[in-house]
Amino acid sequence: NEKKIHLPEINKTINVANSKDSLLDLLAKEEIIIYSPCGGKGTCGKCKIRVKGSVNDITNEEKNFLTEDELENDIRLACRTFITGYADVYLLEGKLRNDSKSSLETLKEYKVNNKVIKKYIKIHKPTLENNNSVVECINNSLKDVHIDLDMLRKISKDIDYSKNVTITLYDNELIDMEYEDTRDKNYGVAIDIGTTTVACYLMDLNNGKQIKVSSTQNPQAVYGADVISRINYCLENEEGVEVLSKKVKKGIDELIKELSVKANIDKRHIYQCVLVGNTTMNHLFIGLNPKSLSAMPFNPVIKDVVIEKASRIGINSINSHGKIVFLSNIGGFVGSDTVGAIISADLTHDVDNSLIIDLGTNGEIVLSTPKGRYACSTAAGPAFEGAKIKNGMQAFSGAINSVIIEDDMHYTTIDNQPAKGICGSGLIDIISEFIRIGIITEDGKIVEPHVLNNEKLSKRIIKNGRKKEVIIAYDNETYNRQIITITQKDVRELQLAKGAIKAGINILLKVAEVKFQNIDRILLAGAFGNYINKESARRIGVFPNVELDKIISLGNAAGEGAKLALCNKEILDISRREYSLATKHIEISTHPDFQDEFVSGMYFK
Ligand code: FES
Repeated sequence: NEKKIHLPEINKTINVANSKDSLLDLLAKEEIIIYSPCGGKGTCGKCKIRVKGSVNDITNEEKNFLTEDELENDIRLACRTFITGYADVYLLEGKLRNDSKSSLETLKEYKVNNKVIKKYIKIHKPTLENNNSVVECINNSLKDVHIDLDMLRKISKDIDYSKNVTITLYDNELIDMEYEDTRDKNYGVAIDIGTTTVACYLMDLNNGKQIKVSSTQNPQAVYGADVISRINYCLENEEGVEVLSKKVKKGIDELIKELSVKANIDKRHIYQCVLVGNTTMNHLFIGLNPKSLSAMPFNPVIKDVVIEKASRIGINSINSHGKIVFLSNIGGFVGSDTVGAIISADLTHDVDNSLIIDLGTNGEIVLSTPKGRYACSTAAGPAFEGAKIKNGMQAFSGAINSVIIEDDMHYTTIDNQPAKGICGSGLIDIISEFIRIGIITEDGKIVEPHVLNNEKLSKRIIKNGRKKEVIIAYDNETYNRQIITITQKDVRELQLAKGAIKAGINILLKVAEVKFQNIDRILLAGAFGNYINKESARRIGVFPNVELDKIISLGNAAGEGAKLALCNKEILDISRREYSLATKHIEISTHPDFQDEFVSGMYFK
């Protein structure tokens, strides 16, 4: 009985080699990534897919998440579906890697003070009189150049004194030698490894211009949406670190290859990658076991910057002697993505009290004051990204992304498509409007319908069993004719996320002895900061109650920091010395005030 699946949408057939692989695993092996925040444990209900053909019977876990309508329409959870013969598979929310890749060009320029230098020189031949070695001949022309064994082997094969050569140096290490003038070809890639998304920026290192950008979902996402699930995967599986490390490096290699093909650049001329990511992403990329991050005192294996040869790390899409530079971590879960954000906010001269907040799955907060800099991370959970929310989804086409309530509920969706679910910015708007109108109380309870003096809104409060839900989109407005609601549990999830962020902010303020009234600016890092409604976020209490013009979006601050450090070696050094090693990491979960701050942070006051 031959087992195979066919994907009619992309006309692809896949043979099932291992019947123990779930449909989620089978697709992941083919680089088809289905949104799977629980990492395939059958507990999030997000990996829905349509399957027609020979498969296992519906499992109990699936019954928890699938409506009768969905069951009738062959909808299954990919992580709970196993192929027993031939089946047609249709992707619903699943995004093909190629679909989720985006490319854009920008004219922005970055200041160049590069570690990678190219020189076009003549190497003088040895003579019988001077009896110089090849290395001495090179050094006579360049002075104190270090050449590693791999490079020496290469040179010993190629050396030709009759021609001029282009020498490429990284600091004072010789990393390439070519027999033509290629000084105008000097490229690098800044890479931001997010838990959810990986972005690569191809840069011209001669002029600091950004050439092209490409991004994709982090291929590790099939092993869980957050860093904890990925760490757990490594703890539970002998080969875990290797699997996750290879996954992300392969994804990065593909992105860089795509960029160089589009920009018509030879990979030989890409000499440096500067990476940022949270501590877990950092460890998994380098191939370090993140075990020490899983238990108190949550210390990383390494904090300092890592500089290695591309071939040693296993990045194959750049010059094999090129350098992979992973910026330094701060401590605990606060990694170099936060260092990137500090670089991009240019906090070198701390003349004011600035708060940097990154509202990712793992919320990172930095408080920078004239007296010192403090950082913490807080397990905000994936609610801001739509996970653990009944109708939550990522910010894709059809996601409800903004909501206002007047006489009735009004919302917009991404690309103006029929509503599919609610993304993070939509969720924050909804809760903010619920508070403003009084649909939820200060402690987050959905009120009885009669409390509202508005018939249209009262009708939206329904009961599902004994639990209340609020209808955001009626069935005739949505893509699958199912209502989209916010449940009492969803409100609770958001309260937990905001309680965690609030506790982090307040504890840092206490440690630094700064009053929230004295915060001069709040800088929002991460793409999310670009599109959330700041007023809504302030109303629900994600940020302290400061004037709106003090809240500034930094955009993708981590990626910006990586680009700046790639182009300018001074920034690379400062980031290590001042931003990473001099920032004090505060472990908030063990702070005596944490519980109180967390609980009071959950209130909508
Ligand atoms: Fe399948 Fe979460 S239920 S990935």
